[in-house]
Amino acid sequence: MRNLIDIKDLSTEEIEELIAVAEDMIANPKKYAEICHGKKLATLFFEPSTRTRLSFEAAMYELGGNVLSVSSAGSSSAAKGESVADTAKTVSCYADIIAMRHPKEGAPLVASMNSTIPVINAGDGGHNHPTQTLADLLTIWREKGRLENLTVGFCGDLKFGRTVHSLISALSRYSGIKIVLISPEELKLPSYIQKDVLAANGIEFHQTTDLLEVMPQLDILYMTRVQRERFFNEEDYLRLKDSYILTPDKLKTAKADLSILHPLPRVNEIAVAIDEDPRACYFKQVLNGKYVRMALILKLLKEAGTL
Ligand code: CP
Repeated sequence: MRNLIDIKDLSTEEIEELIAVAEDMIANPKKYAEICHGKKLATLFFEPSTRTRLSFEAAMYELGGNVLSVSSAGSSSAAKGESVADTAKTVSCYADIIAMRHPKEGAPLVASMNSTIPVINAGDGGHNHPTQTLADLLTIWREKGRLENLTVGFCGDLKFGRTVHSLISALSRYSGIKIVLISPEELKLPSYIQKDVLAANGIEFHQTTDLLEVMPQLDILYMTRVQRERFFNEEDYLRLKDSYILTPDKLKTAKADLSILHPLPRVNEIAVAIDEDPRACYFKQVLNGKYVRMALILKLLKEAGTL
């Protein structure tokens, strides 16, 4: 059974095919409006979400399908102690495909090993968020017209930010990518990603605490929220939460064609005044997420032989 647990589960050709299908869905929505008629997506979200759950559900409805939803751990039998494996076996009896978010790293993988239908990882702990990466890549593609030869700055919580981990992994396949890692010392990119992803793929990268120093180099600035829910103590979170706040004056030295991305939700790290700047792409990213999830649902249902 084909699942999407890690962005590495997709080849570069498959990522580019998903981007192409998403572009076609944007241009020709009617062509896809009934393609999943009679099929059901189960969204199993054991951790809060607005964009990922609703975009998956909107995606399935726009493909003509239906949705079954668990929107919190407390509203499912997980609250009574049911295992992820048993949940996956159960939902396989009702739905054709699962999108799962879980606070435990590896939970969607366990679900995929016990499911008879495709499982999509919609975010597992501080680990991975491959469908956000597809949304990010579609956004970069639509804004820049390329996925290579870009200098990409990641700013904020690079330790717990699962979207950062997945996007770095995806970009590392492309030539001419330079990565700039901007974070407080305590929130640096985990060393295993530096070693196994960046160094292993020969990607040029450097680390800094100073966003303003590197701003003029950047083609893409990927801002992130400090992930309060992954901190062990509130004091550390309060000390680090406002490490980087992007305001219009900080963009004075930025490129005219900089693209500012953020997986959202934002808390305080991008001033609302930036939303009016044509370089702000984060709400386009939200919409792109729906289209690329439509393309992914279609691909996995076809490969499962369900369509
Ligand atoms: N980007 C993202 O995962 O947003 P949600 O947590 O709202 O799903």
